[in-house]
Amino acid sequence: VRHSLLLLVQRRLSQGSAMETEAKKRAAYMAVDKYVQNNQVLGIGSGSTIVHAVKRIAERVQKDGLKVVCVPSSFQARQLILQNKLPLSDLDQYPELDLAIDGADEVDNDLNLIKGGGGCLTQEKIVASCAKKFIVIADYRKISKCLGEKWKRGIPIEVIPKAYLPLTRTIAARFGGVAELRMAVSKAGPLVTDNGNFILDWKFEKVSDWKTVHCSIKMLPGVVETGLFIDLAEKVFFGMEDGTVEVR
Ligand code: 5RP
Repeated sequence: VRHSLLLLVQRRLSQGSAMETEAKKRAAYMAVDKYVQNNQVLGIGSGSTIVHAVKRIAERVQKDGLKVVCVPSSFQARQLILQNKLPLSDLDQYPELDLAIDGADEVDNDLNLIKGGGGCLTQEKIVASCAKKFIVIADYRKISKCLGEKWKRGIPIEVIPKAYLPLTRTIAARFGGVAELRMAVSKAGPLVTDNGNFILDWKFEKVSDWKTVHCSIKMLPGVVETGLFIDLAEKVFFGMEDGTVEVR
């Protein structure tokens, strides 16, 4: 009985993840087909959903002769661009981008985002803010009415390593909740970002004004950036469970 229960759980999990992968792919393909045009300079986000967008861009380069230049938002994004044989550049060459595409951990009704599940929030925000248009691709699990409803791992905050302990105390004392140092997958030590910093995951209790909270946290010495992307996204493509794509 235990064995068949285990099999059932495994099957449900893999069905769930196959459905999520399909949803990510559909959102990514539609966003690329609607927004990516010839001769654009593109900002490329990080995570698992962006992989589908980069694959679609590479397909169009090969099949249709599309010409684009790609600026990465992380080491992962850089590798992805190179693996798909797309032209790689940077913000020194292109300080203004035509379009940035990225995933998100959660998206609220006003298209405010939580990002940084993969620890790349600072460069992702720089790239997004250099773009004339910033569009987001996500699956149905990321839709929420208010931030924090779905993403339970807390708001990622990138901090200078020397400041992490004072900041965990200050954030909890000033804003409530708990700020925890994110550990590397190996658990051997803290996760180190592409910028050589640490991440605090802030599990907040109650927030009504995200913009004010974001600005107040950013003012704390040692904070580099928060994973709150407020008023940045222009459009979000959600791959839904029923096979459709919802565009907001
Ligand atoms: C990384 C990010 C990612 O975009 C976010 O975590 C979404 O990832 P995925 O597409 O794998 O769900 O912010 O820092």
